[in-house]
Amino acid sequence: MKFKEIKNNIFYCGLNDRERKIFDELIPLEQGTSYNSYLVKGSEKVALIDTMYPPKMAEYLNNLDENNITKIDYIIANHGEQDHTGALPELIKKYPQAVIVTNQFCKNNIMEMLLIPESKIMVIKNNEGLSLGDKTLRFMLAPGVHWPDTMFTYIVEDNLLCTCDFLGAHYTFEDIYADDSKDLEHAAKRYYAEIMMPFRKMCNKYVQQIKELSPEMILPSHGPIYKNPQFILDLYADWSNDDAKNLVVLPYVSMYGSVEEMINYLSAKLEAAGIKTIKHDIVSDDLGDLAMAMVDAKTLVIGASMVLCSPHPAAANAAYLVNLLNPKVKYAGIIGSYGWGGDLVGKLSDIISNLKVEMFEPVLIKGKAKPETFQKLDELAEAIIKKHL
Ligand code: FEO
Repeated sequence: MKFKEIKNNIFYCGLNDRERKIFDELIPLEQGTSYNSYLVKGSEKVALIDTMYPPKMAEYLNNLDENNITKIDYIIANHGEQDHTGALPELIKKYPQAVIVTNQFCKNNIMEMLLIPESKIMVIKNNEGLSLGDKTLRFMLAPGVHWPDTMFTYIVEDNLLCTCDFLGAHYTFEDIYADDSKDLEHAAKRYYAEIMMPFRKMCNKYVQQIKELSPEMILPSHGPIYKNPQFILDLYADWSNDDAKNLVVLPYVSMYGSVEEMINYLSAKLEAAGIKTIKHDIVSDDLGDLAMAMVDAKTLVIGASMVLCSPHPAAANAAYLVNLLNPKVKYAGIIGSYGWGGDLVGKLSDIISNLKVEMFEPVLIKGKAKPETFQKLDELAEAIIKKHL
């Protein structure tokens, strides 16, 4: 495959991975992903920015050969995770003169994770530059989006910013440039929810920094290149700010229909009052959709059946994920149905203890909902409406 030139001897040399079905063995990929790598040919030195996921390594190395890349002086590791650094061990064999350039944190990671010898690594500091002759790479440490070792690489003279995982999307493409479509927005939001949302405050900070830098293009490590950086920066500014939307998310698991009946009742009450709701069947729906819904939600209400005196494991799993993702949600509630008893509310509340939420009065019922149950659900709906409107 011939590398596509982005600008002035700067080339895209990444690959699509349409076969990959799940990322981090956690959340399904809707259309695979891409692993982006960029080749920068300066008048004196050649640099490769980020590399490749190990299962795609043979194709990646073959492409370097097909494009007659016989010399690489620097390999920039913006982040130590192996979807970007996995090819480093092979690359330093193939290009023995190449020096890996990275920050101290990432150096430690690639030495531990990939057994890269220390002698092959050059450590840079924040804002330090590296000359390639007529081009300069400047490194901006960006810890927290999403690992402590993350940094951005700014190609100064060309005003291009490589943001590593930040601002990316699990999205595959033929054209390497973003089409600013709703499909891309969906993929970028899903990616943000799963990977960046736990670091929401940092995301917001770096968005402001990048806006001030005003790069001509943003070159992420997954998904297409943004020729219009405003597209993704505005989306991130919205997702990462503190303002939750008028949305209640209702993940639920219902063994005999009682919890589902209560969720449907509550949802209808809220919708009638002008509040958008998203019901999420934890067992059959895609966990990534729940993560996405939580980007904007003001209120979370978990509905759960009980198994062996405890929350249904599927409910515990969803609550655990939401807790890890640490969304901007402000209020939470728990509703449930049990057979013979147990501690649903205590155990679920413990699982979501990271969330900075005000809890509503729970609604619990033995077996099927009764008239007094619906009265309690009315009270819960009223309490939510009061907070939302
Ligand atoms: Fe795409 Fe954090 O690796």
